[in-house]
Amino acid sequence: MKLRVDLLPHGGYSDTVLVIDVLRATTTAVTYLERGAEALLLTASPDIALGLKWQLGAEGEAGEPLRHPSYLLGGERGGLAIPGFDFGNSPVEAAQQNFTGKTIVMNTTNGTAAAHVAAQSGSRVLLASLTNAHAAARRAKALAVEEIAIVCAGTDERVGLEDVYAAGVIAEYLLALGELSVDDGARIALTLRRSAGNPLEALSSSVHGQTLEKLGLGEDVRYAAQVSESTVVPVLAAEQDVEGALK
Ligand code: MLT
Repeated sequence: MKLRVDLLPHGGYSDTVLVIDVLRATTTAVTYLERGAEALLLTASPDIALGLKWQLGAEGEAGEPLRHPSYLLGGERGGLAIPGFDFGNSPVEAAQQNFTGKTIVMNTTNGTAAAHVAAQSGSRVLLASLTNAHAAARRAKALAVEEIAIVCAGTDERVGLEDVYAAGVIAEYLLALGELSVDDGARIALTLRRSAGNPLEALSSSVHGQTLEKLGLGEDVRYAAQVSESTVVPVLAAEQDVEGALK
């Protein structure tokens, strides 16, 4: 089995892919499902998400827009909630809700885009974070045929230390599950994992971790640093819905 770690998404995956956006999309996605959400839809744009919420322009008898009864929208730009969305992208906020019977439609700056890049090559796409690291490693090992690719979403097309650190944590779990031939990206992630201190130190020192702290969202950084708290692993269907949403 081969292990590859891409420090930023660039496509061309053929087997099993773990997409990581620790701060905060994949951490929040895991939390949505932990809190009872039936499914996630990851859209390619905020407008597609809003179209799904308002049932693509359907109208009620009085001509009012018809809201989809079970869709809730979560996402951010610049770390802050998108106008018209029901939630931002805070895992701490998500952990306080009950999403039973709901489908969460997500669109974020980096995380959902990275998932779309991975899915376009027809791979099995799983969402990973520190919070579900061990379960994600086990699931990927069970599903992969020849190669596991760990894809770090980064932030604004720049490498994110928090994602590479999480890739190193997951790579360590995978090495404990069996022999792997690792690429240089995996070796970088493993080296970072072994040198950057504990998870909270690593996440707090990252550029995006510091940005979130400045936005008053430091609780999300501390939440995202909890390693293997969850056994939930979101697995995305590779095909895209007519609305361009992954589910
Ligand atoms: C993203 O998906 O770009 C990140 O999660 C941004 C954020 O939520 O702060």
